[in-house]
Amino acid sequence: MKQAIVLTGITTTGTPHLGNYVGAIRPAIAASKDPDVLPFYFLADYHALIKCQEPARVSLSTLEIAATWLALGLDTENAVFYRQSDIPEIAELCWLLGCVTAKGLMNRSHAYKAALQTNEENGENDPDKGVTMGLFNYPILMAADILMFNANRVPVGKDQIQHIEMARDIAGRFNHIYGEHFTLPEPEITEETAILSGLDGRKMSKSYDNTIPLFIEEKQLRKLIMKIKTNSLEPGAPKDPDTCTLFSIYKAFAGREQTLALRKRYEEGIGWGEMKQFLFEHLNEHLHSARERYDALIQTPEKIEDILQTGAEKARRYSQPFMQKIRAATGIRKLV
Ligand code: TRP
Repeated sequence: MKQAIVLTGITTTGTPHLGNYVGAIRPAIAASKDPDVLPFYFLADYHALIKCQEPARVSLSTLEIAATWLALGLDTENAVFYRQSDIPEIAELCWLLGCVTAKGLMNRSHAYKAALQTNEENGENDPDKGVTMGLFNYPILMAADILMFNANRVPVGKDQIQHIEMARDIAGRFNHIYGEHFTLPEPEITEETAILSGLDGRKMSKSYDNTIPLFIEEKQLRKLIMKIKTNSLEPGAPKDPDTCTLFSIYKAFAGREQTLALRKRYEEGIGWGEMKQFLFEHLNEHLHSARERYDALIQTPEKIEDILQTGAEKARRYSQPFMQKIRAATGIRKLV
């Protein structure tokens, strides 16, 4: 059977946190071990420039995200693991796709519309204030990422579904004009399974500044866990696990039996101090060996770079000949 191509990108603007791990990284690494799947996972550094113009941050984030995936055991024999900007064909394809994409389609993009709305709310005269062409064209670049490798399935959070639909639209348009070249991708929604709460009880997210970095140093990890907001029930009073941030985090890192046992301790009135210490020990136990591998990788960026270069070579074995074919289909070809 032909392997299904599963492709996803990670924008290189931040440091991976527990929520990223549970919601996206862990399922992606698990999926990379499925022999029926050919995974393409990449560091979306061109995407990073849309929202971040701090060079040091983009490059540090690239290092941290790559080290994270490798420390957690991504199988780079099976998975094609690369950096978007190492594949020049993606940027080329982005242009060709832009030439078949209706501007009106891009006008409907949620990310763009959100920017317009913010300007309107702030009483700006120019509705496009602060909107770069990078932001406006974002869905076309993402379509190029996906269509370049003819991905069948694209695991993404809910907020990205529209982008996959746009990639399908764009692929359909190109196929209609130039012949059947692109596979229409399907979104695979990953968010429902595990949403982690953050320090303040809201969804753990960089935009709320309530995250716990995945490989933070042990002492810092303990300190952050001690900061998690709880209610003011005394030790001995029965507590509701299902509305508790501590419990939601524990659950994401524990088996069924362990979770049931903790549920019982909530009924029996476990104190918040004790529970926080317990959560810290559990998380630390779960993460410490990966943290050691992570720290070692961060110290040896040349090793990571090697792995990324090998990944890029693998990816370009697909993208180079395919791009040649796509260019030729549009009339961009040698005269003889
Ligand atoms: N835009 C995606 C995000 O912010 C990241 C991304 C870039 C991506 N290119 C992609 C995801 C292609 C899936 C497929 O989450």
